[in-house]
Amino acid sequence: MKKRSGKTARATPRAAVRHTQVRTAQSRGHVVFLVGFMGAGKSSVGRALAGRLNWRFEDLDDRIERHQGRRVAEIFRDSGDSEFRQAERSALAAVLGELRAGTARIVALGGGAFVDKQNAGLLKEAGVPVVFLDAPVEELWERCCAQAAEEKTERPLLRSREQFAKLYDERREKYRKATLRVRTGSRTVDAIAAEIEQALGLRKIRTRNEEGEFE
Ligand code: S3P
Repeated sequence: MKKRSGKTARATPRAAVRHTQVRTAQSRGHVVFLVGFMGAGKSSVGRALAGRLNWRFEDLDDRIERHQGRRVAEIFRDSGDSEFRQAERSALAAVLGELRAGTARIVALGGGAFVDKQNAGLLKEAGVPVVFLDAPVEELWERCCAQAAEEKTERPLLRSREQFAKLYDERREKYRKATLRVRTGSRTVDAIAAEIEQALGLRKIRTRNEEGEFE
């Protein structure tokens, strides 16, 4: 089988293949940040996209929880919104600082992260792609309520429908500053992941099978 370069796949030396993989993983093209309101599907889409590409998936809220040793809801309850926002800024700065280490990854940010001026500035400065997952507020509300009912996610900012809609209105213009906006309403997670993959021209990282061959 011919590769695009005209060389046969067998003729490519192993060391050269490994080198290419590492080098591309280190490039800035190997990170994508997902932003959007609560319930937009940032974690589900992020996992699906990471799975398609063999990249790592990371949820910034999980990093904050590991670092603080308590749940996001507990941080809000015991220390307040501003301490959570500070922890969020530090966690994002830490992720951006690790990019040169070379692990290709999809990072889902919590709903308030990208609306913070400092965070948006850090992402802009880093020149990394930021994808806004956009959906109608009614659908976001329904999804968050369904998740809360399943006790999957405890969201401190999920209070009344009116407050939810007000916060959404306040934030939406800020999300629109992202590199790419993808509509998620009434679409499958995989279709959304495929759209992002194609729109950003993301490339799958090759892995080795049990025989040590690249797949
Ligand atoms: C928040 C959204 C949450 C979490 C925190 C604050 C927000 O993440 O970071 O409760 O300000 O919108 P999700 O967007 O993943 O629910």
